[in-house]
Amino acid sequence: MKLAISGKGGVGKTTLSSGLARLWAEQGRRVIAIDADPDANLATALGATPELDDACTPLSMQDDLIEERTGARPGRGGMFRLNPEVDDVVDLCGTDIDGVTLLKMGTVDRGGSGCMCAEGTFLKAFLRHLMVDGDDAVILDMEAGIEHLGRGTAESVDLFIVVVEPSMRSIQTAHHVSDLAHDIGVHDVVAVANKTEDAADIAFVREKLGDIPLLGTIPPSDEVRRADRDGRSPYGTDPAFTDALRTVAEAISDRTVRAR
Ligand SMILES: Nc1ncnc2c1ncn2[C@@H]1O[C@H](COP(=O)(O)OP(=O)(O)OP(=O)(O)O)[C@@H](O)[C@H]1O
Ligand SMILES: [Mg+2]
Repeated sequence: MKLAISGKGGVGKTTLSSGLARLWAEQGRRVIAIDADPDANLATALGATPELDDACTPLSMQDDLIEERTGARPGRGGMFRLNPEVDDVVDLCGTDIDGVTLLKMGTVDRGGSGCMCAEGTFLKAFLRHLMVDGDDAVILDMEAGIEHLGRGTAESVDLFIVVVEPSMRSIQTAHHVSDLAHDIGVHDVVAVANKTEDAADIAFVREKLGDIPLLGTIPPSDEVRRADRDGRSPYGTDPAFTDALRTVAEAISDRTVRAR
C-alpha cells in the first residue's frame, strides 16, 4: 500500500509517518519512507543520527543520476526523456534507518521551471513506478498545506491520510486537502486526529470532519515532545503513543485491504 500523509503545518505528519514506518518495519514489513517535504526532517524522527541524515542526499540533488536517466542535467534545460528508468532508485538511493528505507525528494523547482524539467519528471516517474509487493508499505510524509498536491502524487497513492488536531483551522485544511484529493482522482481520504486530550476533543474533531472518516486518534505525549526536543525518534518512547499508533496502523491496513 502507498499512503500520503498531509495536513496543516505542525499537526504531526512527520511524527505519524515515522511512527507508522517504525512500527511496520518492526513487524517485519518492508517499509519505504519518503520525505516529500523540502524542509526534510523525517530522518531524525525515524531515529537517524545527524551523520546518517546528511548521508541521505535528496533525489532532486542527484544530478548525475538524473542526467543518466533523463538525458538532461538539472538546471541546464534542453530535451529530456519523459519515461526515465527508475526501478532501481530505491536500492540505489535508499538509506536504512532502523529497518526503514528512507528517501528524500528534495526541492524540485529551480528558478521557476516548475515541473516541466528533468528533475521534476524524474521524481514523478519515481513515485509513479514505485513498486510495492504484498506487505510492502510506502509512506509519503508531505509538505504542509495544499499547494504541492498535484496529479503526480495522486496517481501514486492508494490512501490519503490528513492529520488534524482538535482545532478548527487544522480541520479546515483537512477539508481543503480532501476536496483537492477528490478533484485529482484520489478517492480514499481519511483523517487521523493527533494531540486529542479527551472524549470531548474527539467528539469535536469527529463532528467537524463531517464526511471525512476518522481512522484513529493519538493522545498528546510529553515523551513524544521531549524526543523531538532532543532530536530523538518519538517511536517507542511512550506506551500510550505506541498503542495509539498500533490502532491507527491496523485501521489503515484494514482499509487498504478492503479497498483491493
Ligand atoms: N502526540 C503528540 N504529543 C506531543 N507532541 C507531539 C505529538 N505529535 C506531534 N507532536 C509535536 O508537535 C510538533 C510538530 O510535529 P511534526 O513535526 O510531526 O508535525 P508536522 O505536521 O510534520 O510539521 P510540519 O508541517 O512542520 O512538517 C513536534 O514538536 C512534535 O514533537
Ligand atoms: Mg513534517
